[in-house]
Amino acid sequence: MANATLILDRDFQIGKVDPRLYGSFIEHLGRAVYTGIYEPGHPLADEEGFRKDVLELVRELGVTLVRYPGGNFVSGYRWEDGIGPVKDRPARLDLAWATLETNEFGLNEFVSWSKKAGTEVMMAVNLGTRGPAEARDIVEYCNHPSGTYLSDLRRSHGYETPHDIKLWCLGNEMDGPWQMGAKTAYEYGRTAAEAGKLMKWVDPTIELVACGSSSSSMKTFASWEAEVLDLCYDQADYLSLHSYYGNRNDDTPSFLAKSLDFDQFIRSVISICDYVKAKKRSKKTINLSFDEWNVWYHSNSTDDEKARWIKARPILEDIYNHEDAVLVGDLMITLLKHADRVKIGCLAQLINVIAPIMVEEGGAWRQSIYYPFMYTALHGRGTVLGSVMHSDRYDCAEFTDVPYMDAAAVLSDDEKTLTIFAVNKDLENSGLLKLDLRALEGFSAVDHITMTNEDKQAVNSILTPGICKPYSLGNAGIKADGGVLTVRLPKLSWNMITLKK
Ligand code: AHR
Repeated sequence: MANATLILDRDFQIGKVDPRLYGSFIEHLGRAVYTGIYEPGHPLADEEGFRKDVLELVRELGVTLVRYPGGNFVSGYRWEDGIGPVKDRPARLDLAWATLETNEFGLNEFVSWSKKAGTEVMMAVNLGTRGPAEARDIVEYCNHPSGTYLSDLRRSHGYETPHDIKLWCLGNEMDGPWQMGAKTAYEYGRTAAEAGKLMKWVDPTIELVACGSSSSSMKTFASWEAEVLDLCYDQADYLSLHSYYGNRNDDTPSFLAKSLDFDQFIRSVISICDYVKAKKRSKKTINLSFDEWNVWYHSNSTDDEKARWIKARPILEDIYNHEDAVLVGDLMITLLKHADRVKIGCLAQLINVIAPIMVEEGGAWRQSIYYPFMYTALHGRGTVLGSVMHSDRYDCAEFTDVPYMDAAAVLSDDEKTLTIFAVNKDLENSGLLKLDLRALEGFSAVDHITMTNEDKQAVNSILTPGICKPYSLGNAGIKADGGVLTVRLPKLSWNMITLKK
């Protein structure tokens, strides 16, 4: 059995959790929009065609912000195709996903949907096949009150009040050869600087996310970040990171250790942002937007067989298992441990496409990864405490010295609740986690929620929705001894331990 000790002190703080850390992503891809969030005529659809069962789960999940409309899709998108009377909107080929895009759903529908979902909009502009002119136009259409062609056009479409979208992505994965209009760092950095300049001239209150590398394994990783930021430092507020993990070799110890890669990626990007800051003698700090992260590999082998150029082509429909949920929970722990610099996070994606929520004719259901996200989004609010973690470690094919246990602690704003999120990566044995709270007097354990499973590949479905699901162990198993609490974490588990003052 592995042992670990987490030492906490109220005065050692990493930073306040930005609620936007609990964002997600809806792209015009697969069944995310059509037959996902939008299905007019379905018995469960509301008057705007939005699936009510889906909205309910999105609200329950605790998502705070949703990035839209892509992803790779945005790099060929003409945003004007998706506004105005639906009958006049053109159908087009989406080259990113070999799909027919009918444009029945566009930015105004997305803004309305977001209001119902209770989520903030993070809008991406096309800097692949388009540029600064179209980017300033969409900001004017969305955010300018009235009296110009574009703002009055919005009003004529039934949206009198500006959408007031505050957060914008300057393109998507512009370093990737798969991207429509892919660019060198110089080409992209200059385009982002000019687009960002015009967008902020239209609305100086907006914030902008510049594209970092599409993954840390790109050959140009690090030099891309440095050159792009050098060129658009004055316009950008955040730099993006994207990361997806898979267990293709059925090597679970290595798969679960991928949070170390995730952590190193974040550390590297922080260093690069600070290097450019120093080089420029700037007072401005660029923070991080981890606006695509998840497990993604289950659907890869079958996606190419799906018919092309049809609407809502059902691709990227990963069905997530128990071990995926443990990694997702640990990636969230890692994001929390960088709360001082990672301000935005988007679990990619939200519905049907590599998603926590799946939608079928008969209803919407929760995948395994839904649960660690939901508990962290709802309870990981306040200030992340700095901690020292001593854990027994293991070696595996891809990593050495992997801590069996990982954890993050969040103190609520009223300082009355301390929530510990923790994982145990040991496949065979439960682990003993000691919480050293001697510098945090007066807290006692009230609950321990755990997600564990005898079968690491167990999955949920619409007919068996409760196979992968956390449950409460109460507080009876948590032993207190002079300011040190001992909690047993089941084998291969994600956990949330709640302490109250
Ligand atoms: O989320 C799926 C795809 O992954 C996105 O469209 C793209 O940005 C990334 O490569």
